[in-house]
Amino acid sequence: MLKNDTLDQWDRESFLHPSTHLAQHARGEAPNRIVSGGKGVYIEDRDGNRLLDAFAGLYCVNVGYGRPEIAEAIAEQARKLAYYHAYVGHGTEASITLAHMILERAPKGMSKVYFGLGGSDANETNVKLVWYYNNVLGRPEKKKIISRWRGYHGSGLVTGSLTGLGLFHKKFDLPLERVVHTEAPYYFRRPDPAMSEAAFTAHCVAELEALIEREGADTIAAFIGEPVLGTGGIVPPPQGYWEAIQAVLDRHDILLIADEVVTGFGRLGSMFGSDHYGIRPDIITIAKGLTSAYAPLSGSIVSDRVWKGLEKGTDENGPIGHGWTYSAHPIGAAAGIANLELVDSLGLVENAGETGAYFNRAMADALADHPHVGEVRGEGLLCAVEFVEDRQARRFFDAGRKIGPQVAAALLEEGVIARAMPEGDILGFAPPLCLTRAEADTVVAATAKAVGKVLPA
Ligand SMILES: Cc1ncc(COP(=O)(O)O)c(C=O)c1O
Repeated sequence: MLKNDTLDQWDRESFLHPSTHLAQHARGEAPNRIVSGGKGVYIEDRDGNRLLDAFAGLYCVNVGYGRPEIAEAIAEQARKLAYYHAYVGHGTEASITLAHMILERAPKGMSKVYFGLGGSDANETNVKLVWYYNNVLGRPEKKKIISRWRGYHGSGLVTGSLTGLGLFHKKFDLPLERVVHTEAPYYFRRPDPAMSEAAFTAHCVAELEALIEREGADTIAAFIGEPVLGTGGIVPPPQGYWEAIQAVLDRHDILLIADEVVTGFGRLGSMFGSDHYGIRPDIITIAKGLTSAYAPLSGSIVSDRVWKGLEKGTDENGPIGHGWTYSAHPIGAAAGIANLELVDSLGLVENAGETGAYFNRAMADALADHPHVGEVRGEGLLCAVEFVEDRQARRFFDAGRKIGPQVAAALLEEGVIARAMPEGDILGFAPPLCLTRAEADTVVAATAKAVGKVLPA
């Protein structure tokens, strides 16, 4: 297939892409790819390239590509009932069944599931539910949300504000004023290299306490965090982090929203990141792995405590004024049921733990001694390689050199997709949870080669 065919031209002329250098794309200066198929951990493009997708799309195609079980469930649902809404108590067999299945898998203390379409709108819902809850409890001043620098929670108005990455704020007049940010739990980038992991956790806690003190606990409604920082760099928390943070939140009566859009349904080798780290959330955000992206669907799982507030609110005020036309869309729900059944029958949670540990170890063995690799880190089937100019001095490369994107491009030439994370020279991996050891070996070998090309030792 020729590159400059009609579809390629239409793409540049007609399609406003998300998270893209729009001008370069439209002018034809940036590489583009028209993806045409996928099977297992591989995708194919229209030029006949077969690529091992070690980022599972956007860490979402957890069961891998081309699963007929999910395709058939979607087709059957579309034939039987493509749509009905969920307002004023309506449901479908699929949406009710999926809510039940999610609660069967959720951490203890969870009560109900609200369905949206993607992670951003689910977090938007979460913020509204928290505000509603505090209004019902008679504390209208308690509304601010604390997020972490480098957290990623979406790119809507409030969710883009929660996201703690400059790119998502710049020129959008964000963050909005009810959102405040605290220290990223990023040990490798600790302010003082001499700090132990425990001392760094204590530092993060002190920063949080100081922020609460400055803002006033009676103005702060909730804290939102991903169990493992995702788009901000794929960073597992420092030792004792969640336990210590949770104690502060409990003391100040601040709700905890665990954003499990990436970690939910197995990626860390546990069904939920909250269980993995002993987090006791009041609300959990889910999306991606809920349907493995076979159809758009997200959710907000609310705890018994939050649910009681919502119940009281509607008893006092009438029906809750919140919902989307596509909330609990039956096609998404049918995909979700088939997906969760596959996650179970294929043992993907266990595989994420076992193959994830193997993959992370192999990546560290291959790269940890490289003079420009500052750190190899990960958990389950999440892994990151962070590049530095000088390891001893922990000096980072000038951002303008685009080392991360260069390594990702070199890796692509080896037939493997990884993601150059947006802030820092960090190569991220989040392959489908069905990854085999042989496929993990392929990714590691290709990465070592790509790193060697861009950064000769
Ligand atoms: C942790 C987290 N929360 C929320 C979102 C936003 O989800 P969506 O892109 O589906 O709106 C993402 C997307 O990557 C995410 O990683």
